Amino acid sequence: MLDKALPKNPMPMLSAWLEESWTTADTPNPNKMAITSARVLDGVAYPSTRIVLLKDANFDSGFVVFYTNYQSRKGRELLSNSRASALIHWDKLGRQVSLEGVIVKSPPEESDAYFATRHRSSRIGAWTSNQSQPVDSRDDLVANLKATEQRFEGQEVPRPPHWGGLRLWIDHIELWCDGEFRLHDRAVWQRSLGHATDPTAGGEWSVTRLQP
Ligand SMILES: Cc1cc2nc3c(=O)[nH]c(=O)nc-3n(C[C@H](O)[C@H](O)[C@H](O)COP(=O)(O)O)c2cc1C
Repeated sequence: MLDKALPKNPMPMLSAWLEESWTTADTPNPNKMAITSARVLDGVAYPSTRIVLLKDANFDSGFVVFYTNYQSRKGRELLSNSRASALIHWDKLGRQVSLEGVIVKSPPEESDAYFATRHRSSRIGAWTSNQSQPVDSRDDLVANLKATEQRFEGQEVPRPPHWGGLRLWIDHIELWCDGEFRLHDRAVWQRSLGHATDPTAGGEWSVTRLQP
């Protein structure tokens, strides 16, 4: 359950829940997060959702980071319509986190540093896959992989410019705990962000408990 007196700032709780999930969630990727983007056409939003891995967070500023191909469907959608929502659920912990906010690219040097920690095969893969684009056959994909391996033979694999981090600056977060008799406990924290396209740490959080 959430505390009776809800804290003003939800970030220490988010930090604690993410930390705890590594030891208690009992799943290979406790940091998996569904991220929803939306393409807007003639005033109609077409949302789409997929799983990514939450790789970093800044709890002082209030953003989480994941890595992807900027030219993928999600990349293009999130970089043109920067509003996004994300969801994390840990069955064993009976907890759910819903996030909403604004997407901004991570600074290039931060993406470089993370890319350098990845296994060489993942770095080769980032150059090989035009993520979300059609491919004629699996064989074509494997041939592209071989060509990329040859291209970088005996060399370091640099970060492709189309691959890197995306920060989700949070302005709406709901923390949810499983409760007896379906009397789950949930609360939502909201704040405004400093700037729509280049957010800075926003205003004060306000908190509201919600019915389950
Ligand atoms: C457990 C898991 C983790 C994943 N992690 C990532 C990730 O961190 N980044 C990423 O781009 N795709 C990741 N994927 C693949 C995405 O779910 C998705 O298929 C891919 O990014 C293409 O999405 P899009 O075409 O909607 O842009 C992951 C998939 C799974 C099942």
